[in-house]
Amino acid sequence: MTRQKIVLAYSGGLDTSILVRILSDDYGYDVIACHADVGEAKDKEYLAMRARKAGAIACEVVDAQDEFARDFCFPALQANALYQGVYPLSAALSRPLIARHLVAAARKHGATAVAHGATGKGNDQVRFDLAVKGLAPDLKIVAPQRERNISRDAALEYAKQHGIEVPATKKSPFSIDENLWGRSIEGGVLEDPDTEPPEEAFAWTKASKEAPDAPAYLTIGFEQGLPVSLDGKKVPPAQLITQVGKVAGDNGVGRIDLMEDRVVGIKSRETYECPASVALIAAHQDLERFTTLRQSLQTKAFLDQKYTELVYDGFWYSPLRHAIDAFNTEHAKTITGQVTLRFHKGSMRVVRRSSENGVYNHGLATYGTGDKFDHRAAEGFITLLGLSLHEFSRLHGGEEAP
Ligand code: ARG
Repeated sequence: MTRQKIVLAYSGGLDTSILVRILSDDYGYDVIACHADVGEAKDKEYLAMRARKAGAIACEVVDAQDEFARDFCFPALQANALYQGVYPLSAALSRPLIARHLVAAARKHGATAVAHGATGKGNDQVRFDLAVKGLAPDLKIVAPQRERNISRDAALEYAKQHGIEVPATKKSPFSIDENLWGRSIEGGVLEDPDTEPPEEAFAWTKASKEAPDAPAYLTIGFEQGLPVSLDGKKVPPAQLITQVGKVAGDNGVGRIDLMEDRVVGIKSRETYECPASVALIAAHQDLERFTTLRQSLQTKAFLDQKYTELVYDGFWYSPLRHAIDAFNTEHAKTITGQVTLRFHKGSMRVVRRSSENGVYNHGLATYGTGDKFDHRAAEGFITLLGLSLHEFSRLHGGEEAP
């Protein structure tokens, strides 16, 4: 009997390296390893070589940074997506992208199944599974780590026994997941919510006391809601995200400490550094307030929250996410202009904005000379605005203390 093929989401780490062999030996599949680079800067040839040595019949390595920036980070930016008010969804956004490449590789190689190394406790399993369901309902999903709950020690032992080369990274006490939009740090002392994250947990953000004494300024140019330039120079998406992250991170901006609610019901302490995404969201949100109207902003705030939860929960490939994206694209038509951020020793503020679409009218807003507002029009406006309240109050004698 010929063996069926399976495409494995292959990070190159210990867990997915042993999965190549487990899927082949225990599950009976021919394994195609698939790695989508979303900004972790790995050595691609070394990665492919190790996948083959572990037993993969093929390895697909795709450079997906621009795709990730354009098709995943930017739509999330339009939605000002911050889960539970603070987490920019960095890990959550990469899973649907990886799933898209798993499915593409499955079609290319005629595979009948896809596999991932996510555990049964986390959000990533939900995101992989739902993304594959949304994209390709005919494909089977295999998650050996969820079935077997293989410990790190057992994985190391398995690798040793089977001669599987484990990446020679220096031993980190933390589990890291990183991409252009942010870096998540888990495990070790971070599992105690009452312990401050040690400096060594952070790689992209300086401690505020190490940050430069002088503030840094960055002007981000937007066109129809999308960031397109930095300090007046056009920059393509992935590079723009990287450059914003560098300025924000060097000035100590972007650290996040969240008591997070996972999809599966577990409350966990999550530590992130997301300098680029928090800065871009702050700038986007400011320009949005400047160039759109209150009614839209109120409706959108509700949709932003819904969008954020959909993405966190793994429903990237869902009709509602597409519908909200369509709303956001329409809403963003006027969001063109520049916003200047000021970074200083761990703090970030919007300090300036300009736009040909700014709804702000100095003649209406000023308290100084040049006031064009018709003050007398306010009187009739308030009479009607308060008409029913006035009637009610007359009827009941008002709230005035007896
Ligand atoms: N709690 C975050 C999330 O669910 C981070 C997950 C990081 N994933 C990982 N496999 N370490 O989005």
